[in-house]
Amino acid sequence: MKALVLSGGKGTRLRPLTHTLPKQLLPVAGKPILHFVMEQIKDAGINDVGVVISPETGDSIRKNLEENPWQHNFTFIKQEVPLGLAHAVKVSREFLQDDPFLMYLGDNLIGGSIRSFVENFEKENLDATILLKKVADPREFGVAVVDQDGKVTRLVEKPKEPPSNLALVGVYIFNSAIHSVISDLRPSWRGELEITDAIQSLVGMNAKVKAQVLEKWWLDTGKKDDILEANRVVLDEFTYREVKGQVDESSTISGRVFIDSGAVIENSIVRGPSVIGKGVVIKNSYIGPFSSIANECHIENSSMECSVLLEKSRLIDVKGLDESLIGKNSLVTENRAIKKSIKMMVGDDAIIEL
Ligand code: TTP
Repeated sequence: MKALVLSGGKGTRLRPLTHTLPKQLLPVAGKPILHFVMEQIKDAGINDVGVVISPETGDSIRKNLEENPWQHNFTFIKQEVPLGLAHAVKVSREFLQDDPFLMYLGDNLIGGSIRSFVENFEKENLDATILLKKVADPREFGVAVVDQDGKVTRLVEKPKEPPSNLALVGVYIFNSAIHSVISDLRPSWRGELEITDAIQSLVGMNAKVKAQVLEKWWLDTGKKDDILEANRVVLDEFTYREVKGQVDESSTISGRVFIDSGAVIENSIVRGPSVIGKGVVIKNSYIGPFSSIANECHIENSSMECSVLLEKSRLIDVKGLDESLIGKNSLVTENRAIKKSIKMMVGDDAIIEL
């Protein structure tokens, strides 16, 4: 079996961060989302991995995967325009040939393993299988109706009146039957070739399409709050205590805090679960639970929690930063001299809540 990881797309909902960084490379608990995906694929015993990339962000995805600790055989497939998930399959036809494949959206994170998902597909000789998750409000997702044997009977994209509470997680397995269905697809109202339409066609042809319901968590990291939620869940699940950097005697590190090499903590409190990257400097500050601070950030006279700072960002004299996502090389500071006014240089599409 091969794997196809979708790492193209536009990432419009995560602008301005996605102007310079593809959303699949945004860090969650100190690690790019795409690396969690690659780990899942390795855990499922798959090594031939096609990565769909866009012309804008393809080079940075390629570079980021160069180290390749998973020892995957990567094939990069350029999708010139993001015309939908089924379109991404279409442009990958040469790589996929007629092999069955696991399709994984590069911005989705799930808890647990997908091994049994892959095993069931093979054991039952299915044409397709989809992963579903019970959600409170299914209206913003693709929604599936499943019979008591796990057979999919109907799929609807973003229904106003959802026929079930089972949303499609961005993980699927197909055999070669999907290709002929996709070649007959028409674009949807939003101009995309929809994978839900392709699966619905398979269901309509009486193909063997089954579903498995994910018991553990699922996070679709399309928006800022999704990233923060993913950060909380993943920090909570995976963080362990290890201090590689230097911590002085007047600092307190409590709980599961990972402090990478070269980090310097002075006269500060750090509470876990939190991850502090390489070369980070923290002075006279409070770092509360669920903080992810990327390499070479500098924090002084500040307090923060439940936030993600990307590489080389600085927080100086800021009190009470909460539920924030701060881009690379940013400076957030309070100007004490001009208390009544606010000075800013803010990138396009930024969101600022004062
Ligand atoms: P989406 O989140 O549906 O789309 P997007 O990345 O364009 O984001 P936004 O809606 O904020 O503009 O995409 C899910 C995943 O699939 C994501 O990793 C990007 C990838 N993708 C492709 O590779 N090709 C495509 O044509 C599309 C639509 C998505």
